[in-house]
Amino acid sequence: MAPSTKTEAHAAAAAVGYPDHLRAQVDVYLDALRFPSRAPRTDGLEEAMRYSLLAGGKRIRPVLALATAGAVGLERSSILPLAAALELIHTYSLIHDDLPAMDDDDLRRGRPTCHVKFGEDVAILAGDALYAEAFRHLLTAQPGDPARVLAAARELAGATGVDGMVGGQYLDVAGVSETPGDLRRLHELKTGRLIGASVICVLLLSGSPSDADETLSWRRFASELGVLFQIVDDILDVTGTDDALGKPQGSDERHGKRTYVTEFGLEGAKKLAQESHAAARATLSSSAPHGAPELEQITDFIYTRTS
Ligand code: IPE
Ligand code: IPE
Ligand code: MG
Ligand code: MG
Ligand code: MG
Repeated sequence: MAPSTKTEAHAAAAAVGYPDHLRAQVDVYLDALRFPSRAPRTDGLEEAMRYSLLAGGKRIRPVLALATAGAVGLERSSILPLAAALELIHTYSLIHDDLPAMDDDDLRRGRPTCHVKFGEDVAILAGDALYAEAFRHLLTAQPGDPARVLAAARELAGATGVDGMVGGQYLDVAGVSETPGDLRRLHELKTGRLIGASVICVLLLSGSPSDADETLSWRRFASELGVLFQIVDDILDVTGTDDALGKPQGSDERHGKRTYVTEFGLEGAKKLAQESHAAARATLSSSAPHGAPELEQITDFIYTRTS
């Protein structure tokens, strides 16, 4: 049940855990990834990619993928290549999001941003390379029926393209969303689709057809979870601290961004987060009627997180 007061929410935040064992599994896997080329002088590019990739981060998307694998009866470790691809793409999106031409932020995951450390030119290329290496890794290292791997790759490409994350980033920078419905759509694309893909790609690897009723229920869960994530991100941009967030507080306000807080006020945004959390829990219950404890924990964590 969603906490109904600020005090209860605070108590829940303190009580809600995170599947740290899954995060540790992801971190070990990512740490072992290398991005060499036949030209030894690309070392500096690999250094920039690994600098941002291994700077910490909650690893929500790969952890969500591993938890979904557990919920649908797949061996969690069997989907680690997909999980890594998700985090590589997420890291690329953060590097580009922080660039001077985008949000112009100088702190990320508690460190100077990639462009501050390596220069804008290298940061752009590090993002580009992480995106390509994500697909290379998924298509070469992910075990399973090739048709299923291809279906997952297609989903991931769609989730990150014009009708996905990059389209959402465009709506954000172009400032073209006007109604509350537009803002929700922006969040669904910008953040929701990659978080959604973290669930849906696993279902596709498990063999579920993408249009089956069961998958549609999972899609609703995943999309709601993504929107919840970004509503909370908008709130934390106002209420958080640089130290806790590992990124600059107040970035949205500095750039005049339209967010759930500017649209609905802080209390309004908190109420919508509460409703979104309740909706995500309800759709999770329909998707996994016999329970999915790790996914329930992640859903609660996304709602109550402070970083
Ligand atoms: C931040 O994502 C960017 C958004 C989509 C809001 P996270 O909050 O998942 O960042 P890390 O991976 O933990 O650093
Ligand atoms: C960015 O949203 C979402 C991405 C696709 C990277 P934000 O600009 O709100 O993310 P933060 O707050 O910088 O992490
Ligand atoms: Mg941004
Ligand atoms: Mg930003
Ligand atoms: Mg933000």
